[in-house]
Amino acid sequence: MVRILGVAGSLRKGSYNAALLRAAVEAAPEGVELVLGTIRGIPLFDADEEALGLPPAVKALREGIRAADGLLIVSPEYNASIPGVMKNAADWVSRVYPEDPSPFAGKPVAVMGASMGNFGTLQAQDAWRPVFKRVEAQMWFGGQVVVPRAQTLFDAEGALTDEATAKRLTQFLAGFAGFVGKMKGA
Ligand code: FNR
Repeated sequence: MVRILGVAGSLRKGSYNAALLRAAVEAAPEGVELVLGTIRGIPLFDADEEALGLPPAVKALREGIRAADGLLIVSPEYNASIPGVMKNAADWVSRVYPEDPSPFAGKPVAVMGASMGNFGTLQAQDAWRPVFKRVEAQMWFGGQVVVPRAQTLFDAEGALTDEATAKRLTQFLAGFAGFVGKMKGA
């Protein structure tokens, strides 16, 4: 069994990226357990706060990533890049302490996302690359899920109504899980 932590990068209730992550949980192939993490409650990074101890929401996210075999980032695109709230969470997680190294180091990571525009977060996905390179994560490039015009693919309750996207999610997770499995065995 491969255990993947999924984290969506939007805080709004009707988030298409959170909905895409829930759809991925439903679409996960056999042998893949996709569990949900969150960036909710993570304060703006402040090194003075950090010196007093890690905020509970940061600790929880770091521990969730550490415990998982792989990390799935479901990222919106803001102004052709990474949303600030998600980059802020990643910055907290990236911090290295003598007795608490960053859980990003060596961690297999995949990125996908949904947008209301025509390009489905392509630019945001590219913007994550230098970040995960810098923190020495193992980013997976073997598949891609870009979901454009998300407003046409989910119902009012946020359930995915598009069969083709559900299939792509299953294939993507199977591919990523294969990569994670290889990394585990290495
Ligand atoms: C956006 N949106 C957006 N979409 C896109 O495809 N490319 C972009 O560069 C941007 N830029 C952008 C900036 C800001 C500040 C906001 C708030 C939005 C639209 C975005 O795709 C849309 O709001 C999604 O619905 C956001 O994801 P969630 O919240 O639905 O997960």
